Amino acid sequence: MVINPDQRIISPAAGAEDTEIEGSLRPRRLSEYIGQKKVRETIDIFIKAARERGETLDHVLLFGPPGLGKTTLANIIANEMGVNIRVTSGPAIERPGDLAAILTNLVAGDVLFIDEVHRLSRPVEEILYPAMEDSAIDIIIGKGPGARSIRLELPRFTIIGATTRAGMITSPLRDRFGVISRLDYYGVEDLVSIITRAAAILNVGIDREGAVEIGKRARGTPRVANRLLKRVRDYAQVRHGGLIDHNVAVEALEFFEVDPLGLDEIDRRILRIIVEKFGGGPVGLDTVAAAVGEEADTVEDVYEPYLMQRGLLARTPRGRVATPVSYRHLGIDCEDKKAGEQGTLSLE
Ligand SMILES: Nc1ncnc2c1ncn2[C@@H]1O[C@H](COP(=O)(O)OP(=O)(O)OP(=O)(O)O)[C@@H](O)[C@H]1O
Ligand SMILES: [Mg+2]
Repeated sequence: MVINPDQRIISPAAGAEDTEIEGSLRPRRLSEYIGQKKVRETIDIFIKAARERGETLDHVLLFGPPGLGKTTLANIIANEMGVNIRVTSGPAIERPGDLAAILTNLVAGDVLFIDEVHRLSRPVEEILYPAMEDSAIDIIIGKGPGARSIRLELPRFTIIGATTRAGMITSPLRDRFGVISRLDYYGVEDLVSIITRAAAILNVGIDREGAVEIGKRARGTPRVANRLLKRVRDYAQVRHGGLIDHNVAVEALEFFEVDPLGLDEIDRRILRIIVEKFGGGPVGLDTVAAAVGEEADTVEDVYEPYLMQRGLLARTPRGRVATPVSYRHLGIDCEDKKAGEQGTLSLE
């Protein structure tokens, strides 16, 4: 059985149902943005300083796993600066001319949000360098020996780039961002605040224990927290007449097969395959992907980051390894030999 990752209840990637509701749940002000204290403070100082000097904000790069609030933060920054935001993405800009057209249409102070900025093609990226550094683009006119380059001045603007793959940003591009902020998985308390806030907006009855239970299983990800809240709300409404307390949350999440660590069937299958079929690993990514019937990229980008973050899986130079935590979680005995070996493996 192949489950489309977008249909997983705990997928950190946005699905159709999320886009519809995310609009209403997305915080608009920096003060409503929960958690990520360091990032919030950095951005706050940066915005205030630029505003006081009456300057355009420097370029910002936001990176971190899906669903942690990059798009939200980009919108908040534009909102707090009182400027317009134009939205595009790396794969959407096919040719250098497309980017030149977007840039020449910007108004002074505008934010240009480029999602998946690591997916810009090289020729497009090269247009961006002078645009970011000198607010200008170089346009080639004519062809062959008669071709000449003219420089077109642009108004001052701010690029906000977002990426889930910081490692894939080229260094010339990375160097042109004045602020680089990394978003991390949220702790349970922050998720509880996010869930409580969303519940108030959606008019859902939930008590603290109910919110804690959902928060614990939300994979450190606000998008997942909001989605679980909606599913649990439906369950509570149909089976229990509304209020989400601890027992209702546990029962609903068990019903949806989201376990106490927030793992679903596919996560557990990945771990079980490594443990049961490959003696705990190391085993290559492609082999794991084939065994669970998923694309290697999907396993690497969607499933593994959280498994690694929870210490359930390790990437080693020789392949993926299930950790003792993983054995414990699956309720499988971890023989002493294996545990000993893993202790000496270096994590990537
Ligand atoms: N700090 C936060 N406080 C409150 N809600 C948040 C926060 N961060 C994210 N959210 C909620 O999570 C949802 C998903 O966040 P967002 O779309 O900004 O993630 P993203 O990092 O851009 O994801 P992707 O990588 O998939 O584009 C938002 O609609 C918002 O409701
Ligand atoms: Mg986004």
